[in-house]
Amino acid sequence: MVERLGNGGLAPALDGIRLSLHVLAAAVWVGGQLTLAGLVPAARGLGEGAARTLARAFARIQWPAYGVLVVTGLWNVSAVHAGQPHTWQIVLGVKIVVVALAGLGALLHTRSTTRRGVATWGGVTALSSIAALVMGVFLAG
Ligand code: HEM
Repeated sequence: MVERLGNGGLAPALDGIRLSLHVLAAAVWVGGQLTLAGLVPAARGLGEGAARTLARAFARIQWPAYGVLVVTGLWNVSAVHAGQPHTWQIVLGVKIVVVALAGLGALLHTRSTTRRGVATWGGVTALSSIAALVMGVFLAG
């Protein structure tokens, strides 16, 4: 939650930059996964290996976004952590675990060699990423 009084009802510039970078990276990490999942059936129709090529291209965008999420997430914590109630701290702790699970899931998803492994870790990654996004919205209040 940012202090808005005395700034025309708007967030201060630095808070705006911090949250914009965090939300932009969340859009790429979460939105990219969901969009890619929707594109894969069409990519399969383009020929053998097309879906894999698409997934590899997305990975080159996805991991920098994850890095930005972690760095701006730590920046968020240092900016808004002080004086937060116990419940907020618990949700933050759960969110950090869920973010780590999303990263691990994405790594195992990429490395899986079986269809079942790809599907399982893809599902774990998508669900934990969405959970992290929702918890972030509640943390921002
Ligand atoms: C998959 C990774 C992540 C996603 C999808 C994500 C998503 C979000 C979203 C959507 C918001 C709400 C922004 C708003 O409503 O203005 C948010 C806020 C927040 N996130 Fe994240 N986040 C991620 C990783 C992290 C990490 C790693 C941390 C901590 C180390 C973190 C800490 C926070 C905090 C403290 C806020 C509240 C910021 C404020 O009130 O100014 N996030 N996050």
